[in-house]
Order: sequence, then structure tokens, then C-alpha cells
Amino acid sequence: MNNPQFTKVVCLECSHEMPADMTLTTCEKCQSGWLDARYDYDAIKPLWANGMSGVRSLWRYGALLPITIPNPEISLGEGYTPLVRLYQYERIYGHEGIYIKDERHQPTNSFKDRQAAMSVTAMKAQGITECVLASTGNAAVAYAAYCARAGIKLWLFLTSLVPNEKMREAALYGAEVVKVSGTYDETKKIAAQFAERKNIVMDKGARTIPSKESMKTLGYEIAEQLALERHPDGSKKWLAPDWYIQAVSGGIGPIGVWKGFQELFDMGLIDKMPKLGIIQAAGCAPMVQAFQNNQPKATPVVPKTLIHVLATGDPGHAYHLLYEATKSNGGVMLSVEDGDTFQAMRHLASRAGISVEPATAVAFAGLDKMFTQGMIKAGETVVVNCSGHTMPAESHILGDQYDRYILDLQIDPTDHSNSPKEEGLGAALRNLAEQVTTVVVVDDNANDRRLIRRLLQSHKNYRVYEASNGAEGLKVIADRKPDLVVCDLTMPEMDGFSLLERLKKDPDLASIPVVVVSAKNLTDQDRKILDDYSDSVWTKGGFETRQLVDHVVNVLGHTPVDNTAKTSQSPSATSDDQAPTTPIKGQHTIVIIEDNPMDLRLAKRMLASASDDYYIIEATTGRAGLKAIYTYHPDLIILDLMLPDVDGFSILDTLKNDHNLRDIPVLVVSAKSLSEEEQKRLNVHIKALLEKASLDRKKLLEIIQTELRDV
Ligand SMILES: Cc1ncc(COP(=O)(O)O)c(C=O)c1O
Ligand SMILES: [Zn+2]
Repeated sequence: MNNPQFTKVVCLECSHEMPADMTLTTCEKCQSGWLDARYDYDAIKPLWANGMSGVRSLWRYGALLPITIPNPEISLGEGYTPLVRLYQYERIYGHEGIYIKDERHQPTNSFKDRQAAMSVTAMKAQGITECVLASTGNAAVAYAAYCARAGIKLWLFLTSLVPNEKMREAALYGAEVVKVSGTYDETKKIAAQFAERKNIVMDKGARTIPSKESMKTLGYEIAEQLALERHPDGSKKWLAPDWYIQAVSGGIGPIGVWKGFQELFDMGLIDKMPKLGIIQAAGCAPMVQAFQNNQPKATPVVPKTLIHVLATGDPGHAYHLLYEATKSNGGVMLSVEDGDTFQAMRHLASRAGISVEPATAVAFAGLDKMFTQGMIKAGETVVVNCSGHTMPAESHILGDQYDRYILDLQIDPTDHSNSPKEEGLGAALRNLAEQVTTVVVVDDNANDRRLIRRLLQSHKNYRVYEASNGAEGLKVIADRKPDLVVCDLTMPEMDGFSLLERLKKDPDLASIPVVVVSAKNLTDQDRKILDDYSDSVWTKGGFETRQLVDHVVNVLGHTPVDNTAKTSQSPSATSDDQAPTTPIKGQHTIVIIEDNPMDLRLAKRMLASASDDYYIIEATTGRAGLKAIYTYHPDLIILDLMLPDVDGFSILDTLKNDHNLRDIPVLVVSAKSLSEEEQKRLNVHIKALLEKASLDRKKLLEIIQTELRDV
């Protein structure tokens, strides 16, 4: 249904006004192809001011679209994708308020489905039966699916670089796929010539009214969902983020999103415009180059990037629109190398459980750069457009490196020494246990790295990853979550001290032991830091290699129970393959719940040095602590109050309400200064309250011994 609030079309180049007709493609006065739809905002504002209701798809915003309701035969429920908070990245960057707009939930997994849904619905309404489109990949798949539903014959012109999987998917939807050996810009020209000769409509992307209007819905959704996120009480109906970040090729995404926010702003529904973070692949970054030179017009480039989806070498007038928008309020345009993109892709998957294709990873590599360069200020909310699933592209990205991530469990059928089956399986499992034991070696000297790797692997079949500086090391460590880090101190970019500090601040990584191997002459200050943060320090050239290997094997023998709760025994018992997961008879089980690695280490050392009789289970989050309590039913709990997830008070409440756990003595050791109210709340529950700042070790041990005497 056409929209009665759609009042006119305005030429973006000469401001000429035309009647409201979504099929217009050129200005009747200056022939420009850049036209813009306008609406009766005064009529819409009061409707939207009180918040939205209605369908959970992009069609809920029908009042500001050229077509107000979906064609049920065509619609696939496009739009209204989740806004997901990236807690994991918030911890990495020490920054609150990072979100993704998760466009992977779209019918064909990218934000191009918005454009395809609206454009194909419009074409169907006009009686169009055949259409031509040139695309770098995702628009092709989206249009192919929607055209299939609409019964429109689609001619797709793709560059030969588009991954086969995408071509195959488009072909599966019944599109005619034409593969062009040339750049995307050449492919577009050929497609246009083909369309003209055959007199078929060619979709002109950002320039067609339905396409651009469809992308506005990304902005509307973000403003609506962010308001709900930040103000769950419903006190705000719309809220703009401080940053909208997207990987950009032709630019239709951010052009549409910007317009969406602009309309909300003009209607007084949001009180600021977001800044745009436009990210391009360095090998095809005409917009970034022009922007950094302060030029309102981009010089076309010949793309040299592996991120083929983003290979628009000539952005034309789209750049000018984005230049104006980005410049107007302190946005940025920047480019990222392909290598950083692939790393960002793996990082996002392994760290946040979000698998994306390279075109989206570009945005995350950009996000990393923006944080590293301090472009994003404290308190600013960030939304990253997250599109594109890896599935069609992963073989192209992981390539032959893929093997490294796959573990092959082979059972040797010839090994039937004792009880045939078990023996073969036992050997295979032992082998697997070694293979899944992962060590990251961080050292800028390639020879030293190789030496450490060989030393370790000559002893056991560990998986060893290498990194040449702290920054790279941090990424590999976050990706692989190794069992041990071997780390140098003096390194370029980020040295070992900074790396240790970053690791110990991250609750997901803090418990990974770090063995330092370095040639640095250590000052007293250095030693103090290392004493707190690292497992042990070895001076290069100053030890027998065998000793280091034995030590590492020993450290790795203490296999963690899970990532956050791990057992450590009293120092005397150190069998390397089978660290016992139950206490030895006569030992007292103590669960320590403490998120600060230094405090944890301190408490552990103290207990270990006092007696061999303690079986210690560490947990660095409240949830892991509770799990450990349920699993081990300990004799004593040492509890910090401020924890990253479930706080100490809630844990105490849980214990109190469980008659099996109610009687376990709890010692609270906390840095939190307590209100009287809190003191009272605690006193009912706990055996003792000790302050971290003035912790008296002797007293703590005495209390523990008294509590455990009767157990
Ligand atoms: C996942 C993804 N990100 C970014 C882009 C670039 O989008 P735009 O055309 O808005 O520049 C594309 C384009 O196909 C894409 O598929
Ligand atoms: Zn004009």
C-alpha cells in the first residue's frame, strides 16, 4: 500500500521538488539520480513520540516508508533484528556500552535483506517481472531470495571474486548468475549495458527510493532498542547511540541509517545525531583516502583486497553524502588491513561467540583501532552493524590453516596390549589431552620463540601458538584461552609488563598462569610486579632448559576443572598427568571466590604455606563459585563481596536458603567499605569479616583453623 504521508520527492543536487512517487529515478530538472523521499513529519511525530507498537519487522515503521505494509507473499519477516550487548568486548576495552546490531538474523544473513525486501516489494507493486542487479555478494543473495518469492526473474552480475558459495546460493534461488572477470565497477557497467540493451530495470542501489528508505529502519530500530536497553523503565522511547560503525563499500547502509536518525532528530524524538564510524578495507579505501585529505570528492581506486564484498573502487556521489554526514559532528573514516580483519573475525568468534564474514570483521577491526587510538570516549555508546554469517566464506578465510583448529582423535586398533578396546581409546585420549593443552609463547625474538616451542613439543605434543609482541599475544591468548603463557618482557608495541597487567585485569584470562622467560635485568620494582602477576621468572641463558620444561609440564599438570573454577593442591602433591579432582582423605576443602588475581594468589599461597591439608578450589566469578560450592560442598568458603557477575551478598543469600549449604562457614575478605545496613546483613551470615587493606594473615589463618577443627 502506498503511503499517504509520503508527500514529495526532492532532488539532492538541485533541491527541485517532485510529486511523491517511489518509482522516480532521475530529477526532471537536472537529471541527477540522487532523489530523496519526504514525509509529513508533523503528522507522524505525535504517533511515534509515545513509542512504537506493532509487528516486529521493519514494517513497524511503515509510516515513514514509501510502502507501509508488507506483501505477505514476499515478506520473510525482515528487520527488527536484536541489539546485542558485547560484554566481552566491554571488558577488553574497559568501556561500557558496546552493542552490535545483529543483522545475521536477517533472512539471508545480511542487512541487504532490508533493501531487497523493500525494493522487490516495490517492483512487484509496479508489475515489474525482470530485473538486473550488480553486486559484490550479499545484495545478490538477498535479492535472489526475494525475487524468487515475488516471481521476478533476476539477472545477477557478480565479479569472479565473489566466493563460489555465494554464487551457488544465488543460483539456488533461481537467479541467472553472470560471473564477470573484472572489478566491481566494471561489472556494474556491463550490467547497466545489459539492462539497457534488453530493456530491463536495473536496481541502482542507494539511489533508488525504496532501497535507501529501507535502510532507515536500521536507525529507527537502533534508537528504539537502545532506549529500551538503557532505560528499561520506559522513561525514554528513543535514544541515539554516540557512534554508529559500519564497514562500507557502496555506502548505502550508513546513508540510509543517517537519514533515519536525521528524521528522528528533526522530529525531536532523539536529542543528538550519532557520529559515523566508516570503515573500509585498506586495499579499497577511496572514501577514507579522500576524507583524510579533507576532500569532498573521492578518487576511484582499483581494489586490492581480499574482502571482495567491500570492493567498490568508485563510490561516486555516495561518498559526498557520507563526507557531509561524517564531517558534520566529529565522525571518522578509517581503513584496516586485511590481516587485522581476519584476526578480528577470529577474535569476535572465539571471544564473543559471534561468527561473521570478513566484510563485517572489517568493522570490528575498525572498532579495535578506534579504541586503541582513543577515538571513542568514556561513556559513549557504540553500535556496530554486524552482518553476514561466515558459512559461505569460511573456507576462503581459514583456508589451509583450518587444520590447526581441528583435533583429530584417532584410535589405534592395533594397540590391544591389555583389554583391547580401552587401551587404544586410553592412548588416544591421552594423546588428545596433550593436544588440547595449549601454550602461547610471546617473544619478539623468533629464534627464542622457536626454541621454546621445540623444547615443549619435544616433551609433549602440546599445541603451541606464537606471538611476537604483547598486543598480538593478548589477542592470541583471548582467542585460544591457553593453559599457559610463556612470555618475554622487553618487546615492541606492548611489553610483557603491560601484557601481564592486561591479562590479570580480565576475569576470563586472569587465571592463566604466565611463565616469564626474559633477558631483562630486573629492578626491585620489576620483581615486585612479577611476583604478583607471574607464575615464575626465568632469565634467558641462566637456566638448564630441562628445568624450564619440567616446570612447565608441572604447571600444566594442574588441569583446570573449567575455565573459572580450578583446583590447586597443596604443594607437595604434583603428579603430572592426573591431578586429582577430589581431595585426599583428611584434607579440608576450601572454596575461594575472588575475582582479583593478586588477592587470589595471595590467599592461596598463604593457605598452602600453612598446611598441606587444604584442598583449594578457586573461582573468579560468583557463578563459578556457586558451581564449585554445589560440586564440592566445601568445609569453608572464603568470599570476596564485589564480583563481576553474582555478588557476594547474593551468594550468601543463596547459601542461607539451602539447608545443605547453610552451615558451611564463610569468611568474607573484602575491599568494599560497608554501610551499616550491609554490615548488619553480613553479620547474620558469616563467621568473620576481614578487610583487604588491613588483612592480618595470622588472624585469618587462626580463624580458618578454628573453623576447620571440628569438621
Ligand atoms: C556484511 C557487509 N558489510 C558491509 C557492506 C557494505 O555496505 P554498503 O553497501 O552500505 O557500503 C556490505 C555490502 O554488501 C556487506 O555485505
Ligand atoms: Zn535536480
